[in-house]
Amino acid sequence: MVASEAAPFAKTGGLADVLGSLPVALARLGAAVAVVIPRYRSVPPASTVSSFRIRVGPHAFPAAIQEVVRQGVRYFFVDCPALYDREGIYGEADGDYPDNHVRFAALSQAAIAVARTLFRPDVFHAHDWHAGLLPVYLRQNLALDPTFAGARCIFTIHNLGYDGNFPASVLPEIGLSRALFHPEGLEFYGQVSFLKAGIVWADSINTVSPTYAREIQTPEFGFQMDGLLRARSYKLSGILNGVDYNEWNPETDARLPAHYSAGDFSGKRICKAELLGEMDLPIDLDRPLIGIVSRFAEQKGMDLVVGAAGAEDSPLAEAALVVFGSGDGGLENAFRDLALANPRRVAMGIGYNESLAHLIEAGSDMFLMPSRYEPCGLNQIYSLRYGTVPIVRATGGLQDTVDAETGFKFTGLTAADLAAAVGTALRAYEDRATWQERMRRGMRKDFSWDASAREYQKLYE
Ligand code: ADP
Ligand code: GLC
Repeated sequence: MVASEAAPFAKTGGLADVLGSLPVALARLGAAVAVVIPRYRSVPPASTVSSFRIRVGPHAFPAAIQEVVRQGVRYFFVDCPALYDREGIYGEADGDYPDNHVRFAALSQAAIAVARTLFRPDVFHAHDWHAGLLPVYLRQNLALDPTFAGARCIFTIHNLGYDGNFPASVLPEIGLSRALFHPEGLEFYGQVSFLKAGIVWADSINTVSPTYAREIQTPEFGFQMDGLLRARSYKLSGILNGVDYNEWNPETDARLPAHYSAGDFSGKRICKAELLGEMDLPIDLDRPLIGIVSRFAEQKGMDLVVGAAGAEDSPLAEAALVVFGSGDGGLENAFRDLALANPRRVAMGIGYNESLAHLIEAGSDMFLMPSRYEPCGLNQIYSLRYGTVPIVRATGGLQDTVDAETGFKFTGLTAADLAAAVGTALRAYEDRATWQERMRRGMRKDFSWDASAREYQKLYE
Protein backbone atom coordinates (compact mmCIF):
# COMPACT_ATOMS: atom_id res chain seq x y z
CA MET A 1 0.00 0.00 0.00
CA VAL A 2 1.18 3.47 -0.80
CA ALA A 3 -0.20 6.55 0.90
CA SER A 4 0.69 9.92 2.34
CA GLU A 5 -0.37 9.12 5.92
CA ALA A 6 -0.56 6.16 8.28
CA ALA A 7 -1.45 6.19 11.96
CA PRO A 8 0.25 6.27 14.37
CA PHE A 9 3.20 7.65 12.37
CA ALA A 10 1.66 10.59 10.49
CA LYS A 11 -1.96 11.65 10.62
CA THR A 12 -4.16 14.55 9.61
CA GLY A 13 -7.41 12.61 9.18
CA GLY A 14 -9.19 9.34 8.56
CA LEU A 15 -6.88 8.30 5.72
CA ALA A 16 -4.21 7.68 8.36
CA ASP A 17 -6.61 5.64 10.49
CA VAL A 18 -7.30 3.39 7.51
CA LEU A 19 -3.60 2.90 6.71
CA GLY A 20 -3.00 2.09 10.35
CA SER A 21 -5.72 -0.54 10.59
CA LEU A 22 -6.68 -2.09 7.22
CA PRO A 23 -3.17 -3.53 6.62
CA VAL A 24 -3.20 -5.06 10.10
CA ALA A 25 -6.59 -6.65 9.43
CA LEU A 26 -5.32 -8.04 6.12
CA ALA A 27 -2.22 -9.43 7.81
CA ARG A 28 -4.50 -11.14 10.32
CA LEU A 29 -6.26 -12.79 7.37
CA GLY A 30 -2.92 -14.13 6.22
CA ALA A 31 -1.80 -11.57 3.64
CA ALA A 32 1.73 -10.22 3.54
CA VAL A 33 1.33 -6.46 3.63
CA ALA A 34 3.76 -3.57 3.36
CA VAL A 35 2.94 0.13 3.59
CA VAL A 36 5.08 2.88 2.11
CA ILE A 37 4.77 6.46 3.40
CA PRO A 38 7.14 9.42 3.45
CA ARG A 39 9.28 9.95 6.49
CA TYR A 40 8.10 13.38 7.53
CA ARG A 41 9.91 15.21 10.30
CA SER A 42 7.31 13.95 12.79
CA VAL A 43 7.93 10.26 11.98
CA PRO A 44 10.39 8.80 14.48
CA PRO A 45 13.59 7.39 12.94
CA ALA A 46 13.79 3.63 12.39
CA SER A 47 16.47 1.29 11.09
CA THR A 48 17.62 1.81 7.53
CA VAL A 49 17.19 -1.20 5.26
CA SER A 50 18.16 0.23 1.91
CA SER A 51 19.49 3.37 0.21
CA PHE A 52 19.14 4.57 -3.36
CA ARG A 53 18.33 7.57 -5.46
CA ILE A 54 14.70 8.30 -6.24
CA ARG A 55 14.49 9.19 -9.91
CA VAL A 56 11.65 11.48 -10.94
CA GLY A 57 11.96 13.22 -14.28
CA PRO A 58 15.27 15.13 -14.18
CA HIS A 59 15.69 14.65 -10.42
CA ALA A 60 17.66 12.03 -8.51
CA PHE A 61 17.08 12.45 -4.78
CA PRO A 62 19.28 10.52 -2.35
CA ALA A 63 16.97 8.55 -0.09
CA ALA A 64 16.99 5.80 2.50
CA ILE A 65 14.24 3.35 3.32
CA GLN A 66 13.59 2.80 7.01
CA GLU A 67 11.45 -0.05 8.26
CA VAL A 68 9.29 -0.76 11.28
CA VAL A 69 7.22 -3.91 11.71
CA ARG A 70 3.97 -3.17 13.48
CA GLN A 71 1.36 -5.83 14.21
CA GLY A 72 2.55 -8.04 11.38
CA VAL A 73 2.75 -5.24 8.80
CA ARG A 74 5.98 -3.89 7.32
CA TYR A 75 5.91 -0.10 7.32
CA PHE A 76 8.54 1.43 5.04
CA PHE A 77 9.36 5.11 5.50
CA VAL A 78 10.91 6.98 2.60
CA ASP A 79 13.59 9.09 4.22
CA CYS A 80 14.34 11.77 1.67
CA PRO A 81 15.15 14.96 3.60
CA ALA A 82 15.11 17.18 0.52
CA LEU A 83 11.40 16.37 0.07
CA TYR A 84 9.95 15.40 3.44
CA ASP A 85 12.04 16.80 6.29
CA ARG A 86 9.78 19.79 6.77
CA GLU A 87 7.46 21.29 9.35
CA GLY A 88 4.23 20.08 7.70
CA ILE A 89 2.89 17.10 5.78
CA TYR A 90 1.24 18.88 2.86
CA GLY A 91 2.18 22.48 3.58
CA GLU A 92 2.45 25.18 6.20
CA ALA A 93 0.52 28.26 7.26
CA ASP A 94 1.12 30.01 3.95
CA GLY A 95 -0.26 27.15 1.86
CA ASP A 96 0.64 23.86 0.20
CA TYR A 97 4.28 23.16 -0.61
CA PRO A 98 4.91 24.31 -4.19
CA ASP A 99 6.75 21.09 -5.05
CA ASN A 100 4.00 18.69 -3.88
CA HIS A 101 3.84 17.19 -7.39
CA VAL A 102 7.49 16.19 -7.08
CA ARG A 103 7.15 15.12 -3.43
CA PHE A 104 4.33 12.69 -4.19
CA ALA A 105 5.57 11.57 -7.60
CA ALA A 106 8.72 10.61 -5.71
CA LEU A 107 6.63 8.66 -3.20
CA SER A 108 5.29 6.45 -6.01
CA GLN A 109 8.76 6.00 -7.48
CA ALA A 110 10.16 5.10 -4.07
CA ALA A 111 7.36 2.58 -3.58
CA ILE A 112 8.28 0.95 -6.89
CA ALA A 113 11.89 0.76 -5.75
CA VAL A 114 10.76 -0.86 -2.50
CA ALA A 115 8.71 -3.34 -4.53
CA ARG A 116 11.73 -4.14 -6.66
CA THR A 117 14.16 -4.77 -3.84
CA LEU A 118 12.47 -5.28 -0.47
CA PHE A 119 8.93 -6.54 -0.90
CA ARG A 120 7.58 -8.02 -4.13
CA PRO A 121 3.79 -7.47 -4.23
CA ASP A 122 1.12 -9.20 -6.29
CA VAL A 123 -1.05 -6.14 -5.83
CA PHE A 124 -0.16 -2.49 -5.53
CA HIS A 125 -2.78 -0.61 -3.55
CA ALA A 126 -2.54 3.17 -4.00
CA HIS A 127 -4.54 5.58 -1.82
CA ASP A 128 -5.77 9.03 -2.86
CA TRP A 129 -4.10 11.45 -5.25
CA HIS A 130 -0.76 11.32 -3.45
CA ALA A 131 -0.27 7.82 -4.84
CA GLY A 132 -2.21 8.40 -8.06
CA LEU A 133 0.85 8.26 -10.32
CA LEU A 134 1.82 4.79 -9.17
CA PRO A 135 -0.42 2.97 -11.68
CA VAL A 136 0.74 5.29 -14.46
CA TYR A 137 4.40 4.63 -13.78
CA LEU A 138 3.73 0.90 -13.65
CA ARG A 139 1.68 0.77 -16.82
CA GLN A 140 3.50 3.36 -18.92
CA ASN A 141 7.12 3.38 -17.84
CA LEU A 142 7.47 -0.18 -16.62
CA ALA A 143 5.03 -2.02 -18.90
CA LEU A 144 7.82 -4.19 -20.28
CA ASP A 145 9.65 -4.73 -17.01
CA PRO A 146 9.36 -8.44 -16.15
CA THR A 147 9.70 -7.66 -12.44
CA PHE A 148 6.19 -6.30 -12.36
CA ALA A 149 4.57 -8.48 -15.00
CA GLY A 150 1.28 -9.76 -13.63
CA ALA A 151 1.13 -7.26 -10.76
CA ARG A 152 -2.21 -5.50 -10.46
CA CYS A 153 -3.03 -2.06 -9.20
CA ILE A 154 -5.93 -0.90 -7.04
CA PHE A 155 -6.70 2.73 -6.37
CA THR A 156 -8.81 3.82 -3.40
CA ILE A 157 -10.50 7.20 -3.39
CA HIS A 158 -10.84 8.45 0.17
CA ASN A 159 -11.96 11.89 -0.84
CA LEU A 160 -12.78 13.13 -4.32
CA GLY A 161 -12.49 16.72 -3.12
CA TYR A 162 -8.69 16.54 -3.12
CA ASP A 163 -7.58 16.00 -6.68
CA GLY A 164 -3.88 16.82 -6.85
CA ASN A 165 -4.13 19.17 -9.81
CA PHE A 166 -1.03 20.84 -11.21
CA PRO A 167 -0.23 22.88 -14.31
CA ALA A 168 0.57 20.89 -17.45
CA SER A 169 4.10 22.31 -17.29
CA VAL A 170 4.95 19.84 -14.47
CA LEU A 171 4.86 16.86 -16.89
CA PRO A 172 8.62 16.70 -17.57
CA GLU A 173 9.34 17.18 -13.89
CA ILE A 174 7.30 14.12 -12.92
CA GLY A 175 8.78 12.09 -15.74
CA LEU A 176 5.64 11.59 -17.81
CA SER A 177 5.25 12.04 -21.52
CA ARG A 178 3.22 14.88 -22.97
CA ALA A 179 1.54 12.20 -25.10
CA LEU A 180 -0.41 11.17 -21.98
CA PHE A 181 -1.87 14.64 -21.61
CA HIS A 182 -5.30 14.15 -23.16
CA PRO A 183 -8.85 13.77 -21.83
CA GLU A 184 -8.63 9.96 -21.71
CA GLY A 185 -5.36 10.28 -19.79
CA LEU A 186 -3.86 12.77 -17.36
CA GLU A 187 -5.61 15.91 -18.56
CA PHE A 188 -8.32 17.40 -16.36
CA TYR A 189 -9.66 20.79 -17.43
CA GLY A 190 -6.27 21.88 -18.69
CA GLN A 191 -4.34 20.57 -15.69
CA VAL A 192 -2.55 17.37 -14.76
CA SER A 193 -4.63 15.49 -12.19
CA PHE A 194 -2.94 12.87 -10.03
CA LEU A 195 -6.37 11.66 -8.91
CA LYS A 196 -7.54 11.16 -12.47
CA ALA A 197 -4.31 9.29 -13.21
CA GLY A 198 -5.19 6.80 -10.49
CA ILE A 199 -8.76 6.44 -11.75
CA VAL A 200 -7.73 5.92 -15.37
CA TRP A 201 -4.74 3.61 -14.98
CA ALA A 202 -5.67 1.42 -12.01
CA ASP A 203 -7.09 -2.02 -12.75
CA SER A 204 -9.73 -1.47 -10.12
CA ILE A 205 -10.92 1.55 -8.17
CA ASN A 206 -12.97 1.75 -5.03
CA THR A 207 -14.12 4.28 -2.52
CA VAL A 208 -14.78 3.96 1.18
CA SER A 209 -18.54 3.42 1.34
CA PRO A 210 -21.17 1.99 -1.02
CA THR A 211 -23.27 5.17 -0.94
CA TYR A 212 -20.30 7.40 -1.77
CA ALA A 213 -19.43 5.05 -4.65
CA ARG A 214 -22.85 5.85 -6.11
CA GLU A 215 -22.79 9.54 -5.22
CA ILE A 216 -19.49 10.28 -6.97
CA GLN A 217 -21.05 9.19 -10.24
CA THR A 218 -23.45 12.16 -10.04
CA PRO A 219 -22.73 15.82 -10.84
CA GLU A 220 -23.63 16.87 -7.28
CA PHE A 221 -20.82 14.85 -5.69
CA GLY A 222 -18.57 14.17 -8.66
CA PHE A 223 -16.23 17.19 -8.56
CA GLN A 224 -16.48 17.16 -12.37
CA MET A 225 -15.14 13.59 -12.45
CA ASP A 226 -18.60 12.01 -12.42
CA GLY A 227 -18.59 11.37 -16.17
CA LEU A 228 -15.20 9.74 -15.97
CA LEU A 229 -16.36 7.62 -13.02
CA ARG A 230 -19.61 6.60 -14.72
CA ALA A 231 -17.57 5.48 -17.71
CA ARG A 232 -15.35 3.47 -15.34
CA SER A 233 -18.20 2.10 -13.23
CA TYR A 234 -17.35 -1.43 -14.41
CA LYS A 235 -14.26 -1.28 -12.21
CA LEU A 236 -15.61 0.93 -9.39
CA SER A 237 -16.90 -0.37 -6.07
CA GLY A 238 -17.57 0.83 -2.53
CA ILE A 239 -16.11 -0.87 0.53
CA LEU A 240 -17.05 0.57 3.89
CA ASN A 241 -14.12 1.43 6.17
CA GLY A 242 -13.77 -0.47 9.38
CA VAL A 243 -12.39 0.93 12.61
CA ASP A 244 -9.80 -0.24 15.08
CA TYR A 245 -11.59 -1.12 18.30
CA ASN A 246 -8.24 -1.63 20.03
CA GLU A 247 -7.80 2.13 19.73
CA TRP A 248 -11.43 3.15 20.06
CA ASN A 249 -13.16 1.25 22.83
CA PRO A 250 -14.61 2.88 25.97
CA GLU A 251 -14.02 -0.31 27.95
CA THR A 252 -10.24 -0.08 27.55
CA ASP A 253 -9.37 3.39 26.16
CA ALA A 254 -6.24 4.47 28.04
CA ARG A 255 -6.89 8.12 27.22
CA LEU A 256 -10.07 8.25 29.34
CA PRO A 257 -10.41 9.07 33.04
CA ALA A 258 -12.93 6.22 33.45
CA HIS A 259 -14.13 3.24 31.44
CA TYR A 260 -17.67 2.13 30.68
CA SER A 261 -19.66 -0.35 28.66
CA ALA A 262 -23.17 -0.96 27.35
CA GLY A 263 -23.90 -2.67 30.66
CA ASP A 264 -22.71 0.17 32.90
CA PHE A 265 -22.69 3.80 31.83
CA SER A 266 -21.39 5.27 35.10
CA GLY A 267 -17.89 5.88 33.73
CA LYS A 268 -19.35 7.93 30.90
CA ARG A 269 -20.59 10.53 33.40
CA ILE A 270 -17.07 10.82 34.79
CA CYS A 271 -15.80 11.41 31.24
CA LYS A 272 -18.51 14.02 30.74
CA ALA A 273 -17.54 15.85 33.92
CA GLU A 274 -13.88 15.77 32.93
CA LEU A 275 -14.65 17.09 29.46
CA LEU A 276 -16.85 19.91 30.76
CA GLY A 277 -14.15 20.86 33.26
CA GLU A 278 -11.38 20.74 30.68
CA MET A 279 -13.38 22.96 28.34
CA ASP A 280 -14.30 25.43 31.12
CA LEU A 281 -18.01 24.80 30.84
CA PRO A 282 -20.32 24.56 33.87
CA ILE A 283 -20.32 20.99 35.17
CA ASP A 284 -24.01 20.30 34.66
CA LEU A 285 -24.28 16.58 34.00
CA ASP A 286 -27.98 16.65 33.23
CA ARG A 287 -27.73 19.16 30.42
CA PRO A 288 -27.13 17.35 27.10
CA LEU A 289 -23.66 17.82 25.66
CA ILE A 290 -23.04 17.85 21.92
CA GLY A 291 -19.49 17.17 20.70
CA ILE A 292 -17.68 17.90 17.45
CA VAL A 293 -14.19 16.82 16.38
CA SER A 294 -13.46 17.79 12.82
CA ARG A 295 -11.22 19.24 10.21
CA PHE A 296 -12.65 22.71 9.57
CA ALA A 297 -13.24 22.41 5.86
CA GLU A 298 -16.13 23.17 3.52
CA GLN A 299 -16.79 19.41 3.30
CA LYS A 300 -17.66 19.11 6.98
CA GLY A 301 -20.57 21.59 7.03
CA MET A 302 -19.23 23.46 10.06
CA ASP A 303 -20.74 26.69 8.74
CA LEU A 304 -24.17 25.15 9.39
CA VAL A 305 -23.23 24.66 13.03
CA VAL A 306 -22.10 28.27 13.32
CA GLY A 307 -25.36 29.34 11.72
CA ALA A 308 -27.51 27.16 13.95
CA ALA A 309 -25.79 27.62 17.30
CA GLY A 310 -25.81 31.40 17.63
CA ALA A 311 -29.52 32.15 18.03
CA GLU A 312 -30.89 32.13 21.59
CA ASP A 313 -34.08 30.41 20.41
CA SER A 314 -32.17 27.68 18.56
CA PRO A 315 -32.58 24.14 19.89
CA LEU A 316 -28.79 24.10 20.17
CA ALA A 317 -29.04 26.74 22.91
CA GLU A 318 -30.58 24.09 25.20
CA ALA A 319 -27.42 22.02 25.09
CA ALA A 320 -23.75 22.51 25.79
CA LEU A 321 -21.56 22.39 22.69
CA VAL A 322 -17.89 21.43 22.50
CA VAL A 323 -16.15 22.00 19.18
CA PHE A 324 -12.59 20.91 18.55
CA GLY A 325 -10.62 21.01 15.33
CA SER A 326 -8.60 23.16 13.03
CA GLY A 327 -8.40 24.26 9.43
CA ASP A 328 -10.18 27.12 7.74
CA GLY A 329 -9.29 30.37 9.52
CA GLY A 330 -12.71 31.94 8.96
CA LEU A 331 -14.43 29.01 10.66
CA GLU A 332 -11.95 29.02 13.53
CA ASN A 333 -12.79 32.69 14.10
CA ALA A 334 -16.52 32.10 13.80
CA PHE A 335 -16.40 29.36 16.45
CA ARG A 336 -14.20 31.53 18.65
CA ASP A 337 -16.76 34.35 18.45
CA LEU A 338 -19.58 31.91 19.16
CA ALA A 339 -17.81 30.65 22.29
CA LEU A 340 -16.98 34.17 23.47
CA ALA A 341 -20.61 35.24 23.07
CA ASN A 342 -21.95 32.11 24.82
CA PRO A 343 -19.32 31.15 27.40
CA ARG A 344 -21.68 29.04 29.50
CA ARG A 345 -22.84 26.78 26.69
CA VAL A 346 -20.26 26.81 23.89
CA ALA A 347 -16.59 25.88 24.21
CA MET A 348 -14.14 25.53 21.39
CA GLY A 349 -10.56 24.45 20.98
CA ILE A 350 -8.26 24.81 18.02
CA GLY A 351 -5.54 22.30 17.41
CA TYR A 352 -4.90 18.64 16.93
CA ASN A 353 -5.03 16.48 20.02
CA GLU A 354 -5.62 12.76 19.95
CA SER A 355 -6.47 12.50 23.68
CA LEU A 356 -8.99 15.30 23.56
CA ALA A 357 -10.60 13.68 20.51
CA HIS A 358 -11.11 10.51 22.55
CA LEU A 359 -12.42 12.45 25.56
CA ILE A 360 -14.95 14.29 23.37
CA GLU A 361 -16.15 10.98 21.92
CA ALA A 362 -16.58 9.57 25.41
CA GLY A 363 -17.84 12.60 27.34
CA SER A 364 -20.47 13.86 24.89
CA ASP A 365 -24.07 12.69 24.75
CA MET A 366 -24.39 13.41 21.03
CA PHE A 367 -21.91 13.83 18.20
CA LEU A 368 -22.64 16.18 15.31
CA MET A 369 -21.46 15.58 11.72
CA PRO A 370 -23.38 17.78 9.27
CA SER A 371 -21.07 16.98 6.33
CA ARG A 372 -21.91 18.22 2.84
CA TYR A 373 -20.37 14.98 1.66
CA GLU A 374 -18.60 12.23 3.58
CA PRO A 375 -16.80 9.40 1.77
CA CYS A 376 -16.98 7.29 4.92
CA GLY A 377 -16.39 9.23 8.11
CA LEU A 378 -14.94 7.53 11.12
CA ASN A 379 -15.96 9.76 13.99
CA GLN A 380 -19.61 8.74 13.79
CA ILE A 381 -18.51 5.10 13.98
CA TYR A 382 -16.38 5.87 17.03
CA SER A 383 -19.39 7.73 18.50
CA LEU A 384 -21.60 4.67 18.12
CA ARG A 385 -19.14 2.57 20.09
CA TYR A 386 -18.86 5.27 22.78
CA GLY A 387 -22.62 5.48 23.31
CA THR A 388 -22.55 9.00 21.90
CA VAL A 389 -25.56 9.28 19.65
CA PRO A 390 -24.60 10.61 16.20
CA ILE A 391 -26.60 13.36 14.49
CA VAL A 392 -25.49 13.28 10.87
CA ARG A 393 -26.33 14.42 7.40
CA ALA A 394 -27.62 11.51 5.35
CA THR A 395 -24.76 11.27 2.89
CA GLY A 396 -21.97 8.86 1.97
CA GLY A 397 -20.67 6.72 4.79
CA LEU A 398 -22.82 8.59 7.31
CA GLN A 399 -25.84 7.21 5.49
CA ASP A 400 -24.35 3.70 5.53
CA THR A 401 -23.40 3.57 9.21
CA VAL A 402 -26.11 5.47 11.12
CA ASP A 403 -29.76 4.46 11.14
CA ALA A 404 -32.93 5.58 12.91
CA GLU A 405 -32.30 3.00 15.62
CA THR A 406 -28.89 4.37 16.54
CA GLY A 407 -28.87 8.05 15.60
CA PHE A 408 -30.51 10.98 13.85
CA LYS A 409 -30.20 11.94 10.20
CA PHE A 410 -31.19 14.96 8.17
CA THR A 411 -30.97 15.69 4.46
CA GLY A 412 -31.26 19.45 3.94
CA LEU A 413 -28.23 21.66 3.78
CA THR A 414 -29.26 24.65 5.84
CA ALA A 415 -28.67 25.70 9.43
CA ALA A 416 -32.42 25.31 9.97
CA ASP A 417 -32.31 21.66 8.83
CA LEU A 418 -29.47 21.00 11.23
CA ALA A 419 -31.24 22.82 14.08
CA ALA A 420 -34.40 20.78 13.48
CA ALA A 421 -32.48 17.50 13.66
CA VAL A 422 -30.77 18.59 16.87
CA GLY A 423 -34.18 19.60 18.24
CA THR A 424 -35.54 16.12 17.52
CA ALA A 425 -32.53 14.52 19.21
CA LEU A 426 -32.85 16.75 22.29
CA ARG A 427 -36.52 15.86 22.69
CA ALA A 428 -35.65 12.17 22.43
CA TYR A 429 -32.93 12.66 25.05
CA GLU A 430 -35.57 13.65 27.61
CA ASP A 431 -36.81 10.07 27.76
CA ARG A 432 -33.77 8.56 29.42
CA ALA A 433 -34.83 4.93 29.17
CA THR A 434 -35.37 4.91 25.41
CA TRP A 435 -32.29 7.07 24.96
CA GLN A 436 -30.15 4.54 26.77
CA GLU A 437 -31.62 1.80 24.60
CA ARG A 438 -30.53 3.84 21.59
CA MET A 439 -27.04 4.16 23.05
CA ARG A 440 -26.85 0.43 23.62
CA ARG A 441 -27.95 -0.37 20.08
CA GLY A 442 -25.14 1.84 18.76
CA MET A 443 -22.58 0.33 21.10
CA ARG A 444 -23.46 -3.18 19.93
CA LYS A 445 -22.89 -2.34 16.23
CA ASP A 446 -19.79 -3.95 14.83
CA PHE A 447 -17.75 -1.99 12.30
CA SER A 448 -14.49 -3.81 12.91
CA TRP A 449 -12.29 -4.33 9.85
CA ASP A 450 -12.80 -8.03 9.53
CA ALA A 451 -15.69 -7.99 7.04
CA SER A 452 -14.31 -5.08 5.00
CA ALA A 453 -10.81 -6.54 4.90
CA ARG A 454 -12.32 -9.67 3.38
CA GLU A 455 -13.94 -7.54 0.70
CA TYR A 456 -10.56 -6.02 -0.14
CA GLN A 457 -9.14 -9.52 -0.27
CA LYS A 458 -11.78 -10.47 -2.83
CA LEU A 459 -10.93 -7.40 -4.85
CA TYR A 460 -7.24 -8.28 -4.78
CA GLU A 461 -7.98 -11.85 -5.84
P1 ADP B 1 -11.63 13.07 7.58
O1 ADP B 1 -10.62 12.04 7.27
O2 ADP B 1 -12.39 13.56 6.41
O3 ADP B 1 -11.07 14.20 8.39
P2 ADP B 1 -12.84 11.00 9.28
O4 ADP B 1 -14.06 11.05 10.12
O5 ADP B 1 -12.70 9.86 8.37
O6 ADP B 1 -12.75 12.39 8.52
O7 ADP B 1 -11.55 10.91 10.20
C1 ADP B 1 -11.11 11.93 11.02
C2 ADP B 1 -10.05 11.38 11.97
O8 ADP B 1 -9.20 12.43 12.38
C3 ADP B 1 -10.63 10.79 13.23
O9 ADP B 1 -9.78 9.78 13.72
C4 ADP B 1 -10.64 11.99 14.16
O10 ADP B 1 -10.64 11.64 15.51
C5 ADP B 1 -9.36 12.66 13.76
N1 ADP B 1 -9.34 14.11 13.99
C6 ADP B 1 -9.89 15.07 13.22
N2 ADP B 1 -9.63 16.30 13.72
C7 ADP B 1 -8.90 16.09 14.84
C8 ADP B 1 -8.31 16.96 15.83
N3 ADP B 1 -8.44 18.29 15.74
N4 ADP B 1 -7.62 16.39 16.84
C9 ADP B 1 -7.50 15.05 16.92
N5 ADP B 1 -8.02 14.19 16.04
C10 ADP B 1 -8.71 14.70 15.02
C1 GLC C 1 -11.29 10.88 3.93
C2 GLC C 1 -12.78 11.15 4.05
C3 GLC C 1 -13.44 10.42 5.20
C4 GLC C 1 -12.95 8.98 5.29
C5 GLC C 1 -11.43 8.95 5.34
C6 GLC C 1 -10.87 7.54 5.42
O1 GLC C 1 -10.53 11.72 4.71
O2 GLC C 1 -13.05 12.53 4.14
O3 GLC C 1 -14.84 10.43 5.02
O4 GLC C 1 -13.48 8.36 6.43
O5 GLC C 1 -10.92 9.53 4.18
O6 GLC C 1 -11.27 6.75 4.32
